[in-house]
Amino acid sequence: MSNIITLDESIVVKRPLHEVFSYISEFSRIDEWDPGVARGHKLTNGVPAVGSEYRIDMKAGFSLHYKIVEFETDKRMLMEVDSSLFTAREEILFAETASGTSVRYIANFNFPKALAAANRVYPAAMDRVGKTTMEGMKKALEDQFEPPAPSRKLALADKLVLPGIWRFTKLGYRSSRKRWKPVSAYLENRHAVVTGATSGVGLAAAKELAEFGARITLVARDRSKAESVCAELREQTGNPHIQVELADMSIMADVHALAERLLAAGQPVDMLVNNAGALFNPRQQTPEGFEKSFALLLLGPYILTERLRPLLAASESPRVVNVLSGGMYSQKIHVDDLQSQRGTYSGSVAYARAKRGLMILTEEWADNWADDGIAVNAMHPGWADTPGVENSLPGFYRATRKFLRSPEEGADTVVWLAASTEAGKVSGKFWLDREQHPSHILRRTQETAQERQQLLQTLQELMESTTPANAKAKATKRGKRSA
Ligand SMILES: NC(=O)c1ccc[n+]([C@@H]2O[C@H](COP(=O)([O-])OP(=O)(O)OC[C@H]3O[C@@H](n4cnc5c(N)ncnc54)[C@H](OP(=O)(O)O)[C@@H]3O)[C@@H](O)[C@H]2O)c1
Repeated sequence: MSNIITLDESIVVKRPLHEVFSYISEFSRIDEWDPGVARGHKLTNGVPAVGSEYRIDMKAGFSLHYKIVEFETDKRMLMEVDSSLFTAREEILFAETASGTSVRYIANFNFPKALAAANRVYPAAMDRVGKTTMEGMKKALEDQFEPPAPSRKLALADKLVLPGIWRFTKLGYRSSRKRWKPVSAYLENRHAVVTGATSGVGLAAAKELAEFGARITLVARDRSKAESVCAELREQTGNPHIQVELADMSIMADVHALAERLLAAGQPVDMLVNNAGALFNPRQQTPEGFEKSFALLLLGPYILTERLRPLLAASESPRVVNVLSGGMYSQKIHVDDLQSQRGTYSGSVAYARAKRGLMILTEEWADNWADDGIAVNAMHPGWADTPGVENSLPGFYRATRKFLRSPEEGADTVVWLAASTEAGKVSGKFWLDREQHPSHILRRTQETAQERQQLLQTLQELMESTTPANAKAKATKRGKRSA
């Protein structure tokens, strides 16, 4: 009696062959379309190829080990599957059709006798598994998802603080994850500029976007660190289109020079991730005379984003993602003291006010740039275990370490906002774990229309006064005065 059970299922989807092949052949994303899978993990470096291996954790509590043994781009892949319950050979075949792409999935399972016998008694069970998997694949590839609407329950939990704050931990990530939709958007040839890409959340976001095949510009302040991160990312992801641009994002001369170089290169920017960040205690001033939190977290991203607008507008589906923090919930923007010159300085307060400022910019850009189709959103990574948290908040880090999420989990919403088709349909909102959260939870942090206007005007003036020509003229004047 044979122990072999065969499944043979097909679907046709209205997507180009290469897009379909790229999505399905990155097999670690199987959890997005196979309802039986809890999580897929890639075990080997590089793009999918013969020899690529994956561990697929099933919801039923066991794992499968997949190895690609034959691979023909845009045509087929054959995998050997090993597990404690069965072995299998699974083949996925791809072909262009008049309306899109057909995908055929053929699996030969070799079950122990007892399980094979059970399947003969209940043949419909295996058949159903095959059909629901292919339905899931079709839905994922059709990519017709709507972004989640704001939830009153979440907003209320945020307002009550404690019921909302546990969501910042890894538990919040795990809970929200169950509601997520697949991200099958095709990113090859799309260009992402990520600031603060050498560590923590920015590095994890850059890696994930590189795995999607995007072209990545890593913005970093330290050349040797940036070059080693770049080499590592190329090796891990197999994506050769990763480059480095140097800029200290707290120095406006650097930010303008970065913008100039990107504008001169002329490559549209499909995704701009304003992520570089740090918390400064005690108060520090940059060589240009700006308080450092304001410079790094607000003025730098303002100038970069404003100046890159033409490159964003040149993209088909441009996105700006501003990495904020739940800390902003505690602060109102102080437009008369943007650089924390009055009263006793607190690094956390200066940080939270700058993040609040970037939330205001998120809403303003979303409104003002809608005609260019630019989706601008802000997000909170949750509490992620990064060098930034460990170094600047050592007490908090020690107390919460067990509950901190990984940098990858913190970066997930950055990638979702930058990449997914569904997130491209919404703008001007604040997100945590792909869910909308209010931008204010306290009435006292709400700014007036006049304060918004003043913020925009001040930033605009500072952008103009720090342009290379104006900064040079100012320096010459200073030189003449002191001569
Ligand atoms: N981790 C969390 O729990 C958490 C929570 C809320 C918000 N955030 C936000 O998430 C973002 C990333 O933070 P993280 O936790 O991933 O911190 P991180 O590990 O310290 O990473 C910060 C990144 O920003 C870069 N950076 C810092 N100052 C810079 C400057 N002057 N010019 C250019 N790049 C600079 C760092 O470069 P170097 O490698 O050269 O230092 C690094 O790449 C920040 O905006 C932070 O406010 C994080």
